[in-house]
Amino acid sequence: MKPIILDVDTGVDDALAIAYAAQSPELRLLGVTTCFGNVSVEEATRNTLYLLELLGREDVPVIAGEGKPLFRRNLKGDAKHIHGEDGLGGALGAALPKGEPGPGHAAKFMVEQVRSMPGQVTIIAVGTLVNLALAVMMDPEFAKLVGKVLVMGGAVTVPGNVTGQAEANIYRDPEAAEYVFRAGLPITLVGLDVTMKTLLSRERLQEWRSKDSKLAHFLADATDFYIKAYEHKRPDIGGCALHDPLAVGMAIDPSFCRTQPLHVEVDVEGLYSTGRTVAFRRFGPKKPPNMDVCLEVDAERFLEHFMSRVV
Ligand code: BDR
Ligand code: CA
Repeated sequence: MKPIILDVDTGVDDALAIAYAAQSPELRLLGVTTCFGNVSVEEATRNTLYLLELLGREDVPVIAGEGKPLFRRNLKGDAKHIHGEDGLGGALGAALPKGEPGPGHAAKFMVEQVRSMPGQVTIIAVGTLVNLALAVMMDPEFAKLVGKVLVMGGAVTVPGNVTGQAEANIYRDPEAAEYVFRAGLPITLVGLDVTMKTLLSRERLQEWRSKDSKLAHFLADATDFYIKAYEHKRPDIGGCALHDPLAVGMAIDPSFCRTQPLHVEVDVEGLYSTGRTVAFRRFGPKKPPNMDVCLEVDAERFLEHFMSRVV
């Protein structure tokens, strides 16, 4: 079993990623850490606790992290228009989890777990990169000791989803992302280049609705809202994108995507392109790669695998 930490801003697709990870025997979920993004860090923590309880995985600790970007401390904004007022498409409503988050900070948890299993822990970051940036700052050896880092974020060859240029997880904290990209971490970037091809259609939700399971109905309701938001913004694609689940999928089976080693930086002060992930792909001498970038995905095989594990 591969030991993983999932860093989330729960979020409907984060919720689907948590369910996928929690129900995949290849992965050992050491903990779920939370950050701001789709919702506030407090809401992300609440949603994560509730979902793990629905999954019967109260054994997995939830540790809260940062509520604000690294430098842009006054930056406001969330994605409730896509994920709902509660972040879970209204499926949560007024319900509250029974449990509480664990003590300490998400970044400290990452450092402790990585130190205790050098070279083994995979971090799957599917929110802003602020917790991961802080972990790297906290421990100068973190980058050497972490096993692998999967980042759901960025758009290297395709347009963004928050602006024409930038993807949400990078845009909401570009300095944290830039810091993480320069840290020498073993990163695989799972960006919109591939996640916009892994689509869940409304028809597939019937498979969950037909089940006698509270969890299945909860995820169907949450995803229904998320699909409606996609239908509004992208009526052409016929479903919602499984961004965060694909990052989990890559931890289970890296052959879901074809990757290319590239040097990628974040535009932190663009006139039009703040938060853009820029790959240096010119002819002639190239900058040494700092990550593997997912460029193609076997979407059908991934989707069937995801559906076989969730719910
Ligand atoms: C990413 O942004 C968040 O809204 C989603 O949960 C996903 O992690 C997609 O751009
Ligand atoms: Ca997310």
